[in-house]
Amino acid sequence: MKLWGGRFTKPTNELVELYTASIPFDQRLAAQDIRGSLAHVQMLGACGIIPQADAETIAAGLLQVQKKLEQGELQFSIAHEDVHMNVEKHLIDLIGPVGGKLHTGRSRNDQVALDMHLYLKEEVEEIVGVLYRLVEVLTDKAEEYLDVIIPGYTHLQRAQPVLLAHHLLAYVGMFRRDIERYEDAYKRIDMMPLGSGALAGTTFPIDRDLVAQELGFSRLYENSMDAVSDRDFILEFLAASSILMMHLSRFCEELVLWSSTEFSFIELDDAYCTGSSIMPQKKNPDVAELVRGKTGRVYGNLIGLLTVLKGLPLAYNKDLQEDKEGMFDTVDTLKTGLVLFAGMIETLQVRRANVERAVKADFSNATDLADYLVRKGLPFRNAHEVIGKLVLQCIEQGCYLLDLTLEQYQAASELFEADLFAALDIRNVVNARNSKGGTGTESVKIQLAHVREWLGTK
Ligand code: ARG
Repeated sequence: MKLWGGRFTKPTNELVELYTASIPFDQRLAAQDIRGSLAHVQMLGACGIIPQADAETIAAGLLQVQKKLEQGELQFSIAHEDVHMNVEKHLIDLIGPVGGKLHTGRSRNDQVALDMHLYLKEEVEEIVGVLYRLVEVLTDKAEEYLDVIIPGYTHLQRAQPVLLAHHLLAYVGMFRRDIERYEDAYKRIDMMPLGSGALAGTTFPIDRDLVAQELGFSRLYENSMDAVSDRDFILEFLAASSILMMHLSRFCEELVLWSSTEFSFIELDDAYCTGSSIMPQKKNPDVAELVRGKTGRVYGNLIGLLTVLKGLPLAYNKDLQEDKEGMFDTVDTLKTGLVLFAGMIETLQVRRANVERAVKADFSNATDLADYLVRKGLPFRNAHEVIGKLVLQCIEQGCYLLDLTLEQYQAASELFEADLFAALDIRNVVNARNSKGGTGTESVKIQLAHVREWLGTK
């Protein structure tokens, strides 16, 4: 017998039952569903909508259902469609018809919205916690290798050398914004829809503020139709998650490149790599590749829900049941991915000798030589031309700027003096950039201090 069976004369078609049921996936919301019901029934008792004694019986029954669920003593059934009706059915089985009073002044429409808000609040808090940890790990790495200079790229061509710490702190900046995005989305996840009924409110003298307070919500939805049909808060979570995955994916791409033989800038820890079934020499950066790859499903979950929602008339529509699996998948993908990613960063080693060799074998100090001529009074555009020609000369000779003689330099411009070689030194090149936000060691130390300060306030 269905909980809503009264107006039906036939049993549900079996395939329809399977097709419409959400219990296979929404059982993940059982704890939130019971928490919501406890707050609801407590309010029903306090407001005199049902007798206090019944409210207490129902609350005790709900706790019993929860305990039995945790101990694996209760089964969910497709016949009861979703987590809400499965819980209610178990409650009534346990305490009898009085359990039927729980759903007074409530609908599954505001109930499911409540469960989703409760669930996402918890998960976002946890994800933000892991993100803080990631920022910490990155900051530690940056500090550990504060003296290491790597090539900086534009167009994936050597551009100007930078501190590795500077490069890592660029990602810290992205992850800090990701945290801000989640914290901002949280304000709208932290809104209570319960008490909206099916769509129009309820005839009972409920106290929504009491329930919100009990469940720890900062505010209520002001409009019952909005409350039961809003899924923006999930979209915002999925959007923030998509941007975060995009950041992780870019970073992963660099880790894959950096750990290749061609770059050899880093060594990923064996514990975070896998081998090949045929090529004995292989050590593959699978974790980095998979985080990069899983970005696709996280984007997909966002686009999927956006598409479900477009064109939906108010208020509740069964389509909304499609909000769950993608959200769960994004939560799972992110939580596992972030923990693995942080571990991979924490354990990676920088191959100092290779990086040092790499950073000397290019023309990434050319801008500094142009700046040198500018300091001697030449307009930058002319300086650019002079150095460009010198670079060409080097390429023809098969050498780098530091290999040319003072005579060769002076033949190109009489402004050159012996101090040009200091301007070309890679460490001087980096440390000459102490402008705010620049890669000079002093500037990077300030960035590090600011991140530490920010972490300290969290
Ligand atoms: N399982 C449903 C969902 O996830 C719960 C709400 C059902 N409401 C309804 N009127 N059929 O959306």
